[in-house]
This record gives sequence, structure tokens and C-alpha cells, in this order.
Amino acid sequence: MTLEKIQELLKEKDQMQLLAYYDELTEEGKAKLLAGIASIDWSFEEDLAHPADMSGKGRQIHPIEGLRRAEIEKRAQEFEQVGLEAIRKGKVGAVLLAGGMGTRLGVDGPKGAYDIGITRPLYIFEQQMRNLKEVTDRAQATVPLYIMTSDKNHAQTVAFWKEHAFFGYPESEIYFFQQDMAPAVDYQGKILLESKDMPALSPNGNGGWFSSMQRAGLTEDLHARGIEWLNIYAVDNVLQRITDPIFVGATILSGVNCGAKVVCKNDPHERVGVLCMDGDMPDIIEYYELTEEMANERDEKGDLAYIYGVILNYLFRLSKLEEIVGNKIPVHIVEKKIECVDEDGVTRKPEKENGRKFETLAVDLIKPMGTVLPFEVVREREFAPIKNKTGVDSVESARELLKQNGVKL
Ligand code: UTP
Repeated sequence: MTLEKIQELLKEKDQMQLLAYYDELTEEGKAKLLAGIASIDWSFEEDLAHPADMSGKGRQIHPIEGLRRAEIEKRAQEFEQVGLEAIRKGKVGAVLLAGGMGTRLGVDGPKGAYDIGITRPLYIFEQQMRNLKEVTDRAQATVPLYIMTSDKNHAQTVAFWKEHAFFGYPESEIYFFQQDMAPAVDYQGKILLESKDMPALSPNGNGGWFSSMQRAGLTEDLHARGIEWLNIYAVDNVLQRITDPIFVGATILSGVNCGAKVVCKNDPHERVGVLCMDGDMPDIIEYYELTEEMANERDEKGDLAYIYGVILNYLFRLSKLEEIVGNKIPVHIVEKKIECVDEDGVTRKPEKENGRKFETLAVDLIKPMGTVLPFEVVREREFAPIKNKTGVDSVESARELLKQNGVKL
């Protein structure tokens, strides 16, 4: 787009501040800024004008039935056989969600490239690939792996995987694709500048993973391979079991459109979203939405009624995903500390929240999927998230859990 066209667009949108430093820029900087502005997805205007109703009003929340450990252990062999069979027939693919910024961990570069080793290097990506390889070795078959990155970390992520020879996984089974970006705005809805020559754009959450895969042309590959199920998982859980055959088999046999790995809540007020039903549809209820009464409600066995905490490991039926991909899922408008050019023209990281970002969440796909199987996993064996450097859900706590699971650090 030419400068004139961009000026016209920004005037109409009342976003002329994006050109505040245009005249100071080099030719290269000018071109970069214009390209950055031209790439803006303006759907945020509608999201700001008509925010999704997050009040939860009008929902008919009640507990959901799930598959508990005792039952899973009893039927493990049957489930595993079905899962392994599906993997051998090439019906299962894996999708690694690695487009996040990892701001809480606060490291430069992709979170998966973080070295959690102590006496030798052990990268998060590497540890997760070991887990996947356990399954593919057992199945004697490979699972295609689709890795979602973002504009902020794509080049570094691809280079890192190449440098590490794809952690011993066949390169022909690995595909990288980029998620979409959304602008960050101040409290007046004005798009911020990340630098004088770039609007502040950041990954738009993990909810758009399937539409981004489609846009990248990967659905053709899914069909050519005969994939029927996609196991999506977060980069930050180093105990992540990927395409776990028992989980895959249980989900297939239950006839649902989606399986969700869950951990049972530690206490009624644990800060985790739990699966539930809203009328006859599955849904998620956040910990802060639970009333005191709901948080403490028990079932006939004495267990918490709202117990199934999600851990961002889902198995989605491809045909249903394709059916719902055009449905709008809620856009979460989140207050954040956004690094941006301040009044003095200097890029600074603010001390407190200074604006908003727009994100969709993968968990919000559960409702449109229509049916879900909560599948309980043993927390200490499968859930070691790394969100922070120290304390809760940190490098420290994940290392402890890895050691408990016999991983040499
Ligand atoms: P989180 O929101 O916990 O991770 O996402 P984050 O964004 O990397 O971390 P913070 O909040 O900045 O500290 C959970 C998973 O979803 C992926 C992340 O990479 C992680 O695997 N994700 C998140 C995306 O792929 N895209 C996004 O836009 C956001």
C-alpha cells in the first residue's frame, strides 16, 4: 500500500498516531511501517465496540461426567489397542502450540528453546519430542507434527529445530505454520507503536490454531494423509504426553468430538478452569466464575462436582473442526503491560498495565465441538507447566517433577 492509501485508511480509522514518526524514518523504516500497518487485522474494532459477553449470565451450568483413573486403568489395554491402531493407520496428527510470547518466563526467543537441564542441556522442545517418540516407537509408526509459531518467533523456532536436527524426528513429518497477529491498543483504542517503524502487534491467542492451519494450506496435507484426529498441546508442559494411545483410544471409543486431558483439582479454589456442562453443551467455567457453593459442591461419591481442570491437551475430531471453523469464538480483551513508544519517542516496558490485547483461546472451541470426554490423568506424571522462572508453575517446580519421573537433568 502506498503512503497515500495508508493515510486515507488511518484517517478513516482515526489511527493517525501510527504515522507520528514517519518523516524521521529511513526509506527502509518507512517501507517497514507501511507494511506493518497494511497487515493489521481490523476486526479488533468490532471486538472493542461489542465485547463478547463474559459475564456467564444465562448459562445453565451443571457438572460434566468424565473418565476417572480407576475406569481408565481397568480398560487401559482396550483403549491402548484402539489408540495404537489409529496411530498406525495414520489417523492421528499432533499440533504444538508454540506461538506464545512466554512473557512470564521472560526469556528472549521461543519458550521451547529454553534449557531446563542442570548438568547438560535439555530443551523443552527436546523433552516433549522424547515423549512423542516413546509413542511412535511403540506404535512403530510416525505421527505428523504441525508446529504453530508466530511472527515474533517463527524464524528462531525453525532455526532451532534445524540446528538440533529435529530432535531425531523425521523432517518430512514436521510442518511449521504461523498464527495470526492482533494489534495492541491503549485505553482509548489507539493502536500502540512497538517502535517508531512498527505498530505493536502480538500473537492473537491460541484459539485460532485451526484456522491458521487452514490458511497455511495444511488441511490438504491432513486429508491426503487420512488424518481424523488432531492432538493439540501447549509448549510449556514438559511432562506432556503427546498422542497418548490410551487417551486416543478412549476418545475414539466414547464417540465424542473432543477428548480433553484433565487433572482433578487439588482444592475447591484451585485457580484453574474446569470442564462443565452448559445446558446440553460442554463448556468451561473459570475458577473466578464458580460461586462458593459450586466450588464446594460434591457428587454422590464425595468428590468435588466441578473437578476437571484442563491442562491444554485436547484431541479434536477433524471433520467437526472443519464444520465449526467459521464460527466466531469469544475474543478475550486482556489488560497487559505493553512495551511501546512513549511520549518521548522512546520504547519502554511500562511498570503497570497500559493497554489491551485481543486473544482467542483454544479452550473456547470445546463448546462448538458439541461433545467432550474429560479424561483424568495423574497430575504428577503428566502436568509440569513452565510459566514462571520461580515459584508456582516454574522452571524449579517442573525440574522437580521431571526428576520424580526419572528424567536425568
Ligand atoms: P500461555 O498464554 O500460557 O503462554 O499459552 P504464553 O503466551 O507463551 O505465556 P505468557 O502469558 O506470555 O507468559 C499456553 C500455550 O499456548 C501457546 C503458548 O505458546 C503455550 O503453548 N500460545 C499462546 C500460542 O500458541 N499462541 C498465542 O497467541 C498464545
